[in-house]
Amino acid sequence: MVFYFTGTGNSRYIAEIISKRLDDDIVSLNEKIKQNDYSEIHSDRPIVFVFPIYAWQMPHIVRDFIKKVKFSGTKKVYFIATCGAESGNAVHFIKNLCYEKHLHFMGIMTIKMPENYIALFSTPSKEKAAEIVSAAKPKAVKAAGYILTERSLPCEKLIFIDIAKSSFINKFFYNHIISDEKFFSKDSCIGCGKCVQVCPTNNITLENNRPVWNGNCTHCMACISFCPVEAIEYGKATEKKRRYYIKDGEIH
Ligand SMILES: Cc1cc2nc3c(=O)[nH]c(=O)nc-3n(C[C@H](O)[C@H](O)[C@H](O)COP(=O)(O)O)c2cc1C
Repeated sequence: MVFYFTGTGNSRYIAEIISKRLDDDIVSLNEKIKQNDYSEIHSDRPIVFVFPIYAWQMPHIVRDFIKKVKFSGTKKVYFIATCGAESGNAVHFIKNLCYEKHLHFMGIMTIKMPENYIALFSTPSKEKAAEIVSAAKPKAVKAAGYILTERSLPCEKLIFIDIAKSSFINKFFYNHIISDEKFFSKDSCIGCGKCVQVCPTNNITLENNRPVWNGNCTHCMACISFCPVEAIEYGKATEKKRRYYIKDGEIH
């Protein structure tokens, strides 16, 4: 069973490739979290989690989902992290999580995908994004090969600074950077509710046909990236920046 969490579709894209290769079910954690569904998960085949890296760790929203849910059947769990550059020491926290949940850690594979964090950085051009996505595909296929044969994924290299990034900086990031206070919609907003629909935390409501962010944001960038008329901004940081999302294998 392949579970994915995604903001802009990168992790879903990778999850789709893996689930097809495994001929196994694919499940959206966004939908499960949105519906407050923390019911027991049973699988006799290995479980795969695909997610983006947030501040050199698994997103806390994914970690908390795994913590809350009871797993039965297999104990084997694989982790596939998509990221714009690198995943730091995410592996350390994931191994601890597996230990806590009595799950058997089968490894983590980091796959570079287009940067999506437009609140802080720029996203690549459409051409560059396409290049990155096509380079990612064989890595996903390779990961699926390991999972199919139930072998552990190869260890990834760590450097000393990764430890600080995934611990202190991650803490700082969650305490001081993640906030929805800077999101706003421009007058070009058409009140379509796409932002409401794609928000995994049900954090957005429409008031007078305009989105309002209600303080439970995880900075996944779905609202800003999926807006069909690019009416959402994050302070001045996102002005004139290219937005993208990936759906059905296409970069939009
Ligand atoms: C809140 C946030 C934090 C991020 N932190 C990192 C990071 O620490 N390292 C990195 O390489 N990419 C980072 N990224 C980029 C994403 O991990 C990357 O673009 C990922 O493929 C997005 O996947 P998604 O479309 O499935 O959400 C971050 C993105 C967001 C939104």
